[in-house]
Amino acid sequence: MQMLSDAVAENVGRGSMIRAMFEAGAALKKQYGEEAVCDFSLGNPDLPPPGIVARTLREAADKAGEAFAFGYMPNAGLPDVREALARHLSTEQGLALSGEDVLLTCGAAGGLNVLFRAVLNPGDEVLAPAPCFVEYGFYAANHGALFRTVPTRPDTFALDLEAVDAAVNARTRVLIINSPNNPTGQVYGREELAALCALLREKSERFGRPVYLASDEPYRFLVYDGAEVPPLLPLYPYAVLASSFSKSLSLPGERIGYLALSPLAEHRKRLMDGLALCNRILGFVNAPILGQRIAAAALGASVDADVYRQRRDTMAAALKDAGYEFLMPRGAFYFFPKAPGGDDVAFVERLRAHLVLAVPGSGFAGPGYFRLAYCVDEKVIERAAPALKKAFKE
Ligand SMILES: Cc1ncc(COP(=O)(O)O)c(C=O)c1O
Repeated sequence: MQMLSDAVAENVGRGSMIRAMFEAGAALKKQYGEEAVCDFSLGNPDLPPPGIVARTLREAADKAGEAFAFGYMPNAGLPDVREALARHLSTEQGLALSGEDVLLTCGAAGGLNVLFRAVLNPGDEVLAPAPCFVEYGFYAANHGALFRTVPTRPDTFALDLEAVDAAVNARTRVLIINSPNNPTGQVYGREELAALCALLREKSERFGRPVYLASDEPYRFLVYDGAEVPPLLPLYPYAVLASSFSKSLSLPGERIGYLALSPLAEHRKRLMDGLALCNRILGFVNAPILGQRIAAAALGASVDADVYRQRRDTMAAALKDAGYEFLMPRGAFYFFPKAPGGDDVAFVERLRAHLVLAVPGSGFAGPGYFRLAYCVDEKVIERAAPALKKAFKE
């Protein structure tokens, strides 16, 4: 019996490398005990949400008996939440957004799907610098588009503008960037972004339709050593921010995020109408109401980023001591070291034999590397250090 579509049947069979590691980890924990396994496979933030989250929920609970406390709302979100978010983003981006420029979504993931649904024709292309978040390819395919990766600069994972220039063609509709980056920890600088925007502006003019720059920024709050995440909306009229509160407030299960448009885009009302329609017809209808209330109350708040910095330093010391080659992450909570021997899948197997769980870089279009997520207690990192060393030496 053919229960599934061909594409879904194929992907269900294949699974993801992250998911496979998650399942292998669960089995190892059962066999050897939780404490024995050092699990760096998942980017699931472990820090408690800031206090404002619980306070907002308590207030919402007091009002939960009122009529329409959980009623339908405009597809783009609660008007007062849109206004509050627009004020926050105006400060962050350094130019004035109105509530009409933002749309509340079911996480950054939901936002990207809404954007893709709104702008992609079948056969259009979505490009992303590799390595990248594995889900982008699925999101493009959801809307009949082709997904292609563009190389970044060797070792630093900085943008390779020549490669982007060569890759963008008349079918390219979206370039998606992610800074701070999962999995590399790289943060793109102001100059390279300005050059990228100039390039896309020229391509948009040449091809007679916008090449959108989707900036996936759920890790914007998490940068180290004074790194900055330059605002993109002033640089390019067809820049669209996709972000969320999943990491900044440790709320990934609540599914709350947003899309924001550049006030420089003349026809953005038309785009926003399309996005609101797509939020509806993809079945999201609107972003969760409690998440919207929490997000509005907590704008500017975040989990304690210093805890992540401390763990980064501990992990860096362990990797360095063992002899790994890696780029010191400038943001987000991942390391992406070179796999000794070059075969990332084999090396991750070797780590697993030492009860250390990581994800092969091949799962992020970055073969030859492996990803360690350090949203785990520092003690786990300390415990993993001898095993990381042994695996390197073998
Ligand atoms: C780069 C990147 N983009 C998007 C997402 C999805 O985030 P959200 O929970 O906001 O949908 C993640 C989640 O890990 C991510 O790492």
